[in-house]
Amino acid sequence: MTQETRSFQAEVSRLLEIVAHSLYSEKEIFLRELISNASDACDRLRYAALTEPALAEGDTEYRVTLIPDKAARTLTIGDNGIGMNREELIDNLGTIARSGTAAFVSQLSGDARRDMSLIGQFGVGFYSAFMVAEQVEVLSRKAGESQGWRWMSDGKGEFTVEALPDAARGAKIIVRLREGEDEYLDPARLRQIVKTYSDHIGLPIILKDGGKEETINTASALWTRPRSEITADQYKEFYHHVGHSFDDPWLTLHNKAEGVLEYTSLLFVPSTKPFDLFDPERTQHQPRDAAIQPHGRTNSPAIDKANFERACEKSRRGSRRIRQILG
Ligand SMILES: Nc1ncnc2c1ncn2[C@@H]1O[C@H](COP(=O)(O)OP(=O)(O)O)[C@@H](O)[C@H]1O
Ligand SMILES: [Mg+2]
Repeated sequence: MTQETRSFQAEVSRLLEIVAHSLYSEKEIFLRELISNASDACDRLRYAALTEPALAEGDTEYRVTLIPDKAARTLTIGDNGIGMNREELIDNLGTIARSGTAAFVSQLSGDARRDMSLIGQFGVGFYSAFMVAEQVEVLSRKAGESQGWRWMSDGKGEFTVEALPDAARGAKIIVRLREGEDEYLDPARLRQIVKTYSDHIGLPIILKDGGKEETINTASALWTRPRSEITADQYKEFYHHVGHSFDDPWLTLHNKAEGVLEYTSLLFVPSTKPFDLFDPERTQHQPRDAAIQPHGRTNSPAIDKANFERACEKSRRGSRRIRQILG
């Protein structure tokens, strides 16, 4: 199939215009957003493969890789997660599918300073890459499918999609950095950003630098680590990631019970009401509950009934314990 050119949805073009010209000072959050997507994609495949193991194609060592290439001036964020097919690339990366980004756009005021602070408040997901990129390329093959695809855009109104032979399962986001953004090619800087924003990611984040490969995050589920080893900022970043929230938790309760039954509970109480609390679309974020899915979460609203009941029982026991702790 030949290359096809498409236009971004009008709202996306508007958003990209703001993102590309933003003087937002914490541009490095683009990396947090792309790593978060890569980790979500791995979680979604892990969950899908519970009922359809063939989807994992024997490769269940889920991971995120970061490859800076100084000569090409690109930073590649790769994953071996669920990937996207042609339709998903067009829908997910060409329109505003997620409610957080839609809320961002609906709050835009035209006042540059106010709009800028919203980037930090809501995050703009995938599109935040255009804060530092002059071009973004996505190479992807969806798990269970044989055809790979290349999506490409300079963020100026249009993107292209074409078939790609020999694509690996998952996605590779190739960020071609703008003039002046070379810091994202520096392994020390990448390490520091990952430590700050993405250390809570439960999968290894591997930095490939020359011939060397190094895991640069702690790479274990945050709730399995001792409380004394987790900083307030790490709890907060994890809360943002898992809850798709941007406020600070009002209360964080992390407990491990050992006895006949053993379990760990990590409870966050938000400080602000989620902006989409009564939005019917919100249901898609609800099964993101470690109790329901021991290994992570999924975008799929379908939860197996027995599994759900087990999780409810576990959560009832957890609540009793929390009530005891709270006295
Ligand atoms: N690495 C990836 N692998 C698979 N799908 C992805 C990847 N990155 C982005 N996507 C898809 O693009 C969508 C939009 O991403 P994003 O703008 O970050 O919003 P969100 O992560 O909140 O849904 C995701 O919901 C997902 O469906
Ligand atoms: Mg995202």
